[in-house]
Amino acid sequence: MTRHDPDIMNLLASRPSLHMDAQDGLLFEGVPLQTIASQVGTPCWVTGAGTLRRRTRNLRKAFAERGLNIALHYALKANDHLATLNVLRQEGCGADVVSGGELLRARQAGIAPADMVFSGVGKTDQELALALREGIGQINVESAEEINRLSHIAHQMGLAAPVALRVNPHIDAETHDKISTGRLGDKFGIDWADAALLYQEASALPGIDMRGLATHIGSQILSPAPFKAAYARIAELVTGLRAQGLTVSVVDCGGGLGVRYRDELAPPPAALAGAIAETLGGLDLKLALEPGRWIAAPAGVLLASVIDLKAQREGVSDFVIVDAAMNDLARPSLYGAWHGIIPLAPDIAYAETAPQTVVGPVCESSDVFGKDRLLPAMRPGDTLALLDTGAYGAVMSSTYNSRPLAAQVMIENGQWALVRPRQRVESLWADETLPEWLGSE
Ligand code: LLP
Repeated sequence: MTRHDPDIMNLLASRPSLHMDAQDGLLFEGVPLQTIASQVGTPCWVTGAGTLRRRTRNLRKAFAERGLNIALHYALKANDHLATLNVLRQEGCGADVVSGGELLRARQAGIAPADMVFSGVGKTDQELALALREGIGQINVESAEEINRLSHIAHQMGLAAPVALRVNPHIDAETHDKISTGRLGDKFGIDWADAALLYQEASALPGIDMRGLATHIGSQILSPAPFKAAYARIAELVTGLRAQGLTVSVVDCGGGLGVRYRDELAPPPAALAGAIAETLGGLDLKLALEPGRWIAAPAGVLLASVIDLKAQREGVSDFVIVDAAMNDLARPSLYGAWHGIIPLAPDIAYAETAPQTVVGPVCESSDVFGKDRLLPAMRPGDTLALLDTGAYGAVMSSTYNSRPLAAQVMIENGQWALVRPRQRVESLWADETLPEWLGSE
């Protein structure tokens, strides 16, 4: 079966934060995006605080309905702007951090280190010491080597590190190869066959306070089955460890819940809650989740303007060249990801369309946002929105081709504010120095 792209009406119908207004064009949480594009310029990221809040509440509700009390540790890496983090802190989220930088950023947003989990396959001694000094809530350890290092550091500091072992359950999350983390051969976690012995050994180490287990099998997961299989393995481990007299009080269920970008049948949070309830629900555990994409992806759009059109010969889609590029939004070039594209102009949904290929100006053939998209006729200066770019969007930007980082705006309750100005081009080289031997000619 050929896969058809959803048309603009369909894209809008499945995105409650977006509306097409006959006068004002595309609205995001009620705010005309054209106003933001005109006043701030493009490219520009827009985050909808209302969407962040609504999705966080929906997630929580799905678990509550299964009788589960679960701590939400928002995965900072998805969208780490301080404004986003402040909104999510207000919504009661802690944080999942993967570097010293993320820890300090989350703290800067007022998230208490006690409400943070430190994940990641390679934490330096300095980062581990920082986490301990700050009083981090939990460190998810990924290897025998790491736990020995942590034991030494914590013991020297006279502290006991709160630890969960991140287990690699050898489950294929059936997602993109580059964002799969729970298979044999993926670099993440401790092989589940070795986890029980390591847990036992680690419980006897100085400076280590073993709390429980963690797992995270990948991202953009579109079926509850791999979640359930992974959590069933964790449940088995919990029972086995307890039978040996060891204390296991915490299970961190990771992140990974997928969203609809194109036409995917993404499982609702209730399906994830069900998978957890059926496997870990009856084990008297403190449960935690590390969602990133599910909360943040639909809460953001990237605005771009048409620089030029480039006609192609019959049978090949014309190019629409826009002022955002792969350095801004890397997902299409990196993972072949599909993002909806909607022009901001009013009534565009009813206009006649023709296939067009939307590209950025970067000098790489992978700098393509959408191939053969059915779009109305565009003109230079027209603006469009790239949808669902609130997660793994701005955070993955670079300044490749000496392109300054795009501006960022947050909207809430009909108001909007610039939360990060467009980077000044001079700041791109501000920290660069010349070796003395080059002289001053
Ligand atoms: N916990 C851990 C340990 C993680 O490594 C991740 C994501 C998450 C939680 C959050 O996963 P989420 O709920 O967002 O799926 N750049 C890629 C995604 C990389 C995900 C990395 N880890 C993308 O744009 O698709």
